[in-house]
Amino acid sequence: MDFVKLNVQGSVANIEISKEKSLNALNRQVLTELSKAIDEIKTSSTVRVVTLTGAGEKAFVAGADISEMKDLSKTEAEEFALLGQKVFSSFESLDQVVIAMVNGFALGGGFELALSCDVLFATKNAKFGLPEVGLGLIPGFGGTQRLSRSLGLHMAKTLTLSAEMVDADKMKALGLVFEVFQTKEEMVAAALKFASKVSSKGTQAVASAKAVIEKGFDLDMKAALKAEADSFSKLFQEAEANEGISAFLEKRKPSFT
Ligand code: CAA
Repeated sequence: MDFVKLNVQGSVANIEISKEKSLNALNRQVLTELSKAIDEIKTSSTVRVVTLTGAGEKAFVAGADISEMKDLSKTEAEEFALLGQKVFSSFESLDQVVIAMVNGFALGGGFELALSCDVLFATKNAKFGLPEVGLGLIPGFGGTQRLSRSLGLHMAKTLTLSAEMVDADKMKALGLVFEVFQTKEEMVAAALKFASKVSSKGTQAVASAKAVIEKGFDLDMKAALKAEADSFSKLFQEAEANEGISAFLEKRKPSFT
């Protein structure tokens, strides 16, 4: 792969989007390579957490590649949006937990990519925004839908309609970013620590919790609670729940395999 680096170390897979000259902008090739990386992770029996970052200090991802969008026909633009949406949705449907490590600009498609991750860490210099209306466009990789689901209707409209950029501290205050770091190195170290915490928990429990939280968003409360009860009860058929509960009662640490 030319622009996406996948590096697996133990239970953590790191994906780096590496197209620094154009601030890691997403063209079709980058999206296709991201999709390949996800396919590899999907079939892994060892990876529990995925960390996702952009190469360099300046940008996580500065959006969809504007030069590639220049002469798109309506049909091509729709195909491009559907490709980005499909790739981003596949981060959400992974069993593994995905941590976005946002360094610098996360704009347009870059912000939309971060929104499709489960946990967001950011460096102090991170800037989030949806500048699309300034290009005469709207977000096309899920931003019009995921931002309102994450931050609520009014914040989503405020940021999308104004193209206002928001820094990492404000995004933390808004509840989207979990932690803010002075440097990329500190952020990576903290993400690995977080990954190791997740990896010490029940594999099926973590995957099941992620899946039912995602699924519940698209259901009414009654159906969502039913989905939760289904997922909760299924875990009682697994050795993992037996081990977790026994370990608590025997006052020892669980040993999940
Ligand atoms: N697409 C293509 N190239 C991009 C890019 C993008 N989204 N963002 C930056 N670049 C390129 C620049 O063209 C420039 O290339 P050259 O050196 O060849 O000229 C290089 O990256 C460095 O960028 P700047 O010189 O502009 O750097 P800066 O520090 O002055 O500004 C910035 C940084 C504010 C992020 C600015 O680059 C910028 O505004 N980028 C565009 C952000 C944007 O509008 N993103 C939304 C894209 S549309 C989208 O994502 C639609 C969708 O939802 C599907």
